[in-house]
Amino acid sequence: MKSVPEPWRIKMVEPIKMTTKIQRQNALMEAGLNPFLLKAEDVFIDLLTDSGTGAMSDRQWASMFLGDESYAGSRSYYQLSQIVEEIFGYQYTIPVHQGRGAEQILFPCLVELAKEKGASEPVFLSNHHFDTTKAHAEMVGARVKDFICSSALQTNIPDDWKGNFDLESLANEINHNRKNIVAIVITITCNSVGGQPVSMENIRIAAAMARDSGIPVVIDAARFAENAYFIKRRDSHYSDTAISQIVKEIFDEADIFTMSAKKDGMVNIGGLCCFRNNESLFRKAQLRCVPMEGFVTYGGLAGRDMAAMTIGLQEALNEDHLHSRIAQVEYLGNQLQQAGIPIQTPVGGHAVFVDARKIFPDIRPENFPAQVLCNALYLESGVRATEIGSLMMGRDPVNGQQEPSLFELMRLTIPRRTYTDNHMSYVADSLIEVVKKAGTLRPLEFEYEPKVLRQFTARFREV
Ligand SMILES: Cc1ncc(COP(=O)(O)O)c(C=O)c1O
Repeated sequence: MKSVPEPWRIKMVEPIKMTTKIQRQNALMEAGLNPFLLKAEDVFIDLLTDSGTGAMSDRQWASMFLGDESYAGSRSYYQLSQIVEEIFGYQYTIPVHQGRGAEQILFPCLVELAKEKGASEPVFLSNHHFDTTKAHAEMVGARVKDFICSSALQTNIPDDWKGNFDLESLANEINHNRKNIVAIVITITCNSVGGQPVSMENIRIAAAMARDSGIPVVIDAARFAENAYFIKRRDSHYSDTAISQIVKEIFDEADIFTMSAKKDGMVNIGGLCCFRNNESLFRKAQLRCVPMEGFVTYGGLAGRDMAAMTIGLQEALNEDHLHSRIAQVEYLGNQLQQAGIPIQTPVGGHAVFVDARKIFPDIRPENFPAQVLCNALYLESGVRATEIGSLMMGRDPVNGQQEPSLFELMRLTIPRRTYTDNHMSYVADSLIEVVKKAGTLRPLEFEYEPKVLRQFTARFREV
């Protein structure tokens, strides 16, 4: 494959340090065998998440000096709103501290609206809810249902659009349960199944179904630019269309978007909750913003954070950036595939997802095979990854049973503009070594199990 050079050069470096195996063993024991609880300085290459971990550009850093720190009516807010309107075509913007901030101010308003219209058992439908999205829906008494297409569940079968809805099942649910449906959430790209894109056609059809039934359409927009890039690359109708135009067309299909700007927004902190033209819902969400996030023109952010986001949203649309970013994820994925390591194929936009179920066929879901793999990779190399599987899925809020997880994946998540391809080769070499020793690794069980979002703070012991 032809190499793809990064469209930037490095102006400042941050040293990272390698640890010894003994140091890593001690650190992991102290962290209760949960890499989330490691101190970051004990990590060599941190692939836990692409969320808020990327490098900002010189333009973003420069813009921070011009941030307006006024409590109310900050110039930085109006500049951010203007860019949101230009890029997405949405009139009303609420800044929030990150993606879940948008969920916490929006979801109660949506559930209230659905109840006013007669919902007795409110439910959100999605291609796949992200874990905080699911948690926020459940915290306001709603349930969630995922309608991911079947090819997404078979990691070895290549399909360009594994983030797509299974439209038939979605239509069926709408026909049979219309009155209870709070909203349809289109997650682009679909993080939970491997950062997989949703096709324009699928977005259009799912949105039209919702529109025809009077159901609000919400885009969970964390990786909107990566999804647009995949549409450009994989859908021949769009091969000559600018990324900015594709983004417009996607967002034309929805009414509201929530965004963790820590991903394609290219900032270390920040998020958005935006409304195309529903002023009354916008006002309701603003009312919730004040006590939960902060005044409506800063939403938990400093003026300088909004200034950096304003530039980041524009840089996200740069095609050279998107090309080199996705090429780096592919570079890692290709090395693993060549060594016979099972991964979600094709690789997604922000991460390589390793299929731990295939590596540990004998470890049961409740003994968390992907967490076993994360721990072994850390011990081998100082590389930190994260589990996307039964641990993250959690328990059914009603009956307390472990919810069946579609996958047991280890996510190697690549921050934007942060690591080089040499770092990726080191990750690949280390994982190849770990997989050779798979038969010697032990399953895990809880030593401490939190009630919600348990992957962040759980502690484990080996069985
Ligand atoms: C698809 C998706 N939605 C929502 C969120 C929540 O965003 P945040 O972590 O900024 O609260 C994330 C975070 O990873 C995500 O990937």
